[in-house]
Amino acid sequence: GPLEETSLPLFFGWFLSPTFKDKLKGMAEDLLKTLGTLDAFKKHLADFTGEAEKEVNLEQYFHQTGPLHCTTKFCDFGKAEGAKEYAEKPSVKEWYGRMTELTLSALFITPRTLGARVTLSQEQLELWPDDTKAESTPDLPAGSRAHVTLGCAEGVEPVQTGLDLLEIIQLQQQGQEGEKVQDLELGPLAYYGKGIWVLSLSEPSLVPALFSSYYG
Ligand code: A2P
Repeated sequence: GPLEETSLPLFFGWFLSPTFKDKLKGMAEDLLKTLGTLDAFKKHLADFTGEAEKEVNLEQYFHQTGPLHCTTKFCDFGKAEGAKEYAEKPSVKEWYGRMTELTLSALFITPRTLGARVTLSQEQLELWPDDTKAESTPDLPAGSRAHVTLGCAEGVEPVQTGLDLLEIIQLQQQGQEGEKVQDLELGPLAYYGKGIWVLSLSEPSLVPALFSSYYG
């Protein structure tokens, strides 16, 4: 019936607690501010502008709306493949409405997105959908895509953040460590080419988050 058809959310995920949300936003803002001043960034400015001469204000380049979260399963109100199966998983029912602590291991910036990489625990991986293994990168470990979208460039959809992260992890798996640029306060900053910048957090950030769903 109609009730059943509308019972699945836009997505399931972990929603960051308000206090830590502001802390993470602050970390990202600091990174953008610093990156914008680095000669190494200015050298590769064309990655962002398309023309080497143009200026870019990184602090105004990315936009974020909605709650800060780490998507586990995008259900699209039931239209996405495997949505119903996911919602019925025992682990999903068990964890629904409960808090967990997410480990943020890196911040990344590309010309399209700004995100935080989430390193999932074994327990958290139980909430990761199985079907994502069938995505374009079957060689990567489950949960590789886990992230928090902190911002998107004009005209870019948030789904892009996970794809950008997968590209970074694939580069790392191929043995690329990026070109080390500088040690920042939070850890080493590396450039991976094509406008991809990664700040690895020397001390991973632990963020309380609530497992729930979003109906938009
Ligand atoms: P993300 O998890 O990277 O933030 P939208 O507003 O575009 O409908 O997306 C709602 C949420 O679902 C966003 O958090 C978004 O990306 C995520 N999302 C959108 N499409 C997909 C998809 N095809 N696969 C995985 N996550 C998606």
